[in-house]
Amino acid sequence: MNDSFEKKSTGAVPAIEYRNVCKRFERTDAKRGHSRRVRKDSLSEAGASGIASSGQKDGFYAVNDLSATVRDGELITILGSSGCGKTTLLKMTNRLYEPDGGSILLFGQDIQKQDPVQLRRKMGYVIQQAGLFPHMTVEDNISVIPRLLKWEPERCRDRVTELLDLVGLDPDQYRSRYPSQLSGGQQQRVGLARALATKPRVMLLDEPFGAVDAITRLNLQNELLRIHRETGGTFLFVTHDIHEAFRLGNRVMIMNAGRLLQMDRPETIVRNPADPFVETLIRSAMEQERFWYSTPRE
Ligand SMILES: Nc1ncnc2c1ncn2[C@@H]1O[C@H](COP(=O)(O)OP(=O)(O)OP(=O)(O)O)[C@@H](O)[C@H]1O
Ligand SMILES: [Mg+2]
Repeated sequence: MNDSFEKKSTGAVPAIEYRNVCKRFERTDAKRGHSRRVRKDSLSEAGASGIASSGQKDGFYAVNDLSATVRDGELITILGSSGCGKTTLLKMTNRLYEPDGGSILLFGQDIQKQDPVQLRRKMGYVIQQAGLFPHMTVEDNISVIPRLLKWEPERCRDRVTELLDLVGLDPDQYRSRYPSQLSGGQQQRVGLARALATKPRVMLLDEPFGAVDAITRLNLQNELLRIHRETGGTFLFVTHDIHEAFRLGNRVMIMNAGRLLQMDRPETIVRNPADPFVETLIRSAMEQERFWYSTPRE
């Protein structure tokens, strides 16, 4: 498998194929008791946890029989309420979790047959809480994989400078800081820089902009679109912000209760929601928008 954007495209082979993928988790006793009483509300976390659909006594499907094809070079946004299985899906994609059923192919190769460590090194991964190593400086955090790959120190340093510029952090000011000396949003940007360090062909981004303010978020979204355009990589971008999902994704994957409800171009989903949950999502986004347009400005 190719491990960087610079190598040749594999043509018609999909970047990622999910084939009937399932992931089941056991319930703790406390949660199991609770699960029998909760109302199944499509927008609530209870509704998103796959309780009713799993039919299992002691467990539930965080991801339930999910099939999807991601083409090489796509930017797919994954949208769904809290607990619907978005992170679980990403973690199965780089084998941090093993599926309980189905298979995942990366450029036509079953990931189950690949060494998990090698696999992870080939994919950029921005985890939900930035996940920086606390004892390492920003510079060392960003250059973790390049150093593992035995890049020359100067090449590592130049790449860190380039990446800090890219995510809008002044390299002179930030490269020697430790994560505890950064705000949450700055940590997320360093996490993004780290994931981009070796220009992986596949990027898994788990709510990478969750902790940044609206203006920075817009700037970072624009940066991300530019990076995606320039690299031609395949990006899976998880968010529960519908505006972000529909703005960034060339296709949007909508999940609920571990299931894939619809995966299509944003405008197609708006015109033809395939499910009542999708319809509710779109309606609620429109309601929120209405406030801005119906409030007269001085
Ligand atoms: N390791 C685990 N053991 C048991 N249950 C888990 C584990 N990881 C996740 N879950 C459960 O699986 C479900 C899906 O979790 P997941 O983290 O994929 O949700 P999510 O869609 O990413 O939510 P959020 O938007 O809040 O990040 C949740 O009900 C969660 O509690
Ligand atoms: Mg998550």
